[in-house]
Amino acid sequence: MPSFDLIVIGAGPGGYVCAIRAAQLGLKVACVEGRETLGGTCLNVGCIPSKAMLHASHMLHETHENFEKMGLMGARPTVDWAKMQGYKQDVVNGNTKGIEFLFKKNKVTWLKGWASIPAPGQVKVGDDVHEAKHIVIATGSEPASLPGVTVDEKTVVTSTGALALPTIPKSMVVIGAGVIGLELGSVYARLGTAVTVVEYLDAITPGMDGEVAKNLQRILGKQGLKFVMGAAVQGVDVAKGAASVRYKLRKTEADAAIEAETVLVATGRKPYTTGLGLEALGVEMEPRGQIRINDHWATNIPGIHAIGDAVTGPMLAHKAEDEGMAVAEVIAGKHGHVNYGVIPGVIYTTPEVASVGQTEEQLKAEGRAYKVGKFPFMGNARAKAVFQAEGFVKMLACKETDRILGCHIIGPGAGDLIHEICVAMEFGASAQDVALTCHAHPTYSEAVREAALACGDGAIHA
Ligand code: NAI
Repeated sequence: MPSFDLIVIGAGPGGYVCAIRAAQLGLKVACVEGRETLGGTCLNVGCIPSKAMLHASHMLHETHENFEKMGLMGARPTVDWAKMQGYKQDVVNGNTKGIEFLFKKNKVTWLKGWASIPAPGQVKVGDDVHEAKHIVIATGSEPASLPGVTVDEKTVVTSTGALALPTIPKSMVVIGAGVIGLELGSVYARLGTAVTVVEYLDAITPGMDGEVAKNLQRILGKQGLKFVMGAAVQGVDVAKGAASVRYKLRKTEADAAIEAETVLVATGRKPYTTGLGLEALGVEMEPRGQIRINDHWATNIPGIHAIGDAVTGPMLAHKAEDEGMAVAEVIAGKHGHVNYGVIPGVIYTTPEVASVGQTEEQLKAEGRAYKVGKFPFMGNARAKAVFQAEGFVKMLACKETDRILGCHIIGPGAGDLIHEICVAMEFGASAQDVALTCHAHPTYSEAVREAALACGDGAIHA
């Protein structure tokens, strides 16, 4: 029976990072993956292909919206859908091959196939049973189903189907104004699809700072996305390749329906643990289907750990990566740590949205004394030069100590800008610490500094 110090099940961002870190720490490591390629949902059918599509469609949008303003004249590009899909696939292939290379470089054995755990200390892949001193479950998540809605990945699709439609649909209904709905809704709206987003709640992107969510909805509305808010989807009927989405408006209880060529179901994801044999092993689960772990990512069964979307917490690739590294450290006898208070969240629309720490709503609910430093990108020279002056940086700091409690950005490069604040928060910095740090001119990052200045004696360019 082949034996390893650690077998990681799943080669998504949680699993492959865990395997690499454990190998770097001197363990003999294998990683089981049943897909043809490594990288899990994120690299194959999630973050990476969607970012390629967001980039391509953003470029097209720029040619239509802003090229003439800069004196760039001439025929506007049209879309060769097959080529765009090819570009997306090249991006995916480059990344998944990259992980294969990293596995070889770090001497991580890829066990190809779907794993189960017949007994503690054993992992079965196909007909082979491998021995493992430690097992890490990093099997990720899958789209959650919605009652009355049958996904066929043709007319009614999840994000996976939406990334590989055979043609650009004329119309699309997106169910759910969360991250997936808004990102992929943006892609198709820019490509010319009439996109309507139907959302159960009265605000988009639940959990996001309210002011940011409101502004994002307004900006996306200007870009052509239509929103039906406070609408509970009851079901989707498909006939002759077209769909009708039935919903009930929560306030009035009125029933309504919208027709569309394609329906994207983006109402959340659920942990994927099917086929592992966890029930037979007696692994304790959370009521919502996640694997129960302690603060060292250990399940109740000795030697079995779990991380990423399969456990509680935000379903984010980078959260899984952090847990992957941390659990590898713990297994190697070192100190693994994840600061769950400083995990950024990013939505890759245009403008991007990024946040870290607490929202104003959370601080209010806690009754915490706080101050707000806000700075609009309208006062940022670089953002104005590139037609991206919509949005703002909002910093939240403790009223007494000035310590940064949260930061919420809607604007150009928000997903990169937020990390300055992540580092600041890791070091327990005050808003003044950021305000006193020299920021290069002209950069978007000056807006972050100005928001920090606004927490004190005031921003300069507001
Ligand atoms: P989500 O949880 O972000 O949003 C789902 C939305 O659907 C919510 O606004 C919810 O109120 C709405 N909804 C639920 N039932 C409904 C109904 N019956 N009718 C109408 N609306 C309904 O889930 P999403 O967008 O599917 O994303 C899944 C996970 O993947 C999330 O945890 C997300 O963070 C992650 N993800 C992260 C990305 C990023 O970091 N950029 C990109 C894509 C996904």
